[in-house]
Amino acid sequence: MRTLIKLGGALLDSADLRKQVAAEIADLAREGHRRLVLVHGGGKQMTRYLAERGVESRFINGLRVTTPAVIDAVTKVFAGSVNSELVMALRAAGARPVGLSGLAAGLVDAEILNPELGQVGRPVRSDPRLLELLTEAGYLPVVACIAGDSAGTIFNVNADQMAVACASAFRAQTLLFLTDVEGVKDATGAVNARVTKSEARGLIEDGVATGGMQAKLEASVHALENQVGEVLIAPGARPGVVGEILSGSAIGTRIIP
Ligand SMILES: Nc1ncnc2c1ncn2[C@@H]1O[C@H](COP(=O)(O)OP(=O)(O)OP(=O)(O)O)[C@@H](O)[C@H]1O
Ligand SMILES: [Mg+2]
Repeated sequence: MRTLIKLGGALLDSADLRKQVAAEIADLAREGHRRLVLVHGGGKQMTRYLAERGVESRFINGLRVTTPAVIDAVTKVFAGSVNSELVMALRAAGARPVGLSGLAAGLVDAEILNPELGQVGRPVRSDPRLLELLTEAGYLPVVACIAGDSAGTIFNVNADQMAVACASAFRAQTLLFLTDVEGVKDATGAVNARVTKSEARGLIEDGVATGGMQAKLEASVHALENQVGEVLIAPGARPGVVGEILSGSAIGTRIIP
């Protein structure tokens, strides 16, 4: 079974939470019947890193406006500290993680999404051979959300879009987004167990799903349209969530066609 788990930045920001999630993922990797790939974000860490340097974060529809100063920070934070800390938490938990980004051997290539967003990339090509090699040999790829192109450009890619590009190329049956909320909330604030593609569009149009959740729902719909079998959005801080949700428990929100 092929599974892609995307870890949100807020989950990876506390050492305790990182340790908890890493232990659950390492257990899953040890079971051995699953080919597992991780993709991670780092939104919270990036906002903090920029603020410490007097750079304000700006977003359009949940996507970070990426000026030249921001793209430099993107490589340092996403592919540097956040990736390394996650890799080491996984190692301490007994897994065999390999830290990567979309730059590695054309894993994910991108092009400019919208000039207003600066150096934000839209994934356009993904070469899954590296993921095949590593998972076949028992390693756990840990992919940071930056992508490149054949001319040597580096792009900031929203981590949810990055997860979809990797899940689709890797032919993952399951895409699990672990985030910092219980699931997708409707206008009353209740978490919905199921959200259809058209409901997801409605939540965005009505301004109920905004910012990072807007980006996640758009990515989820894109995943279902690109051969990913199931898409789940769940609370990463809930103890036991990884094992429970992948064995079929109804936690969080399932995005359905
Ligand atoms: N309708 C909604 N239901 C749930 N969360 C929502 C909704 N609308 C907006 N949000 C926001 O979306 C956030 C999750 O997206 P966010 O991009 O912050 O996290 P992430 O994608 O898990 O992490 P990263 O961006 O670092 O990869 C929540 O913390 C919440 O504030
Ligand atoms: Mg996000």
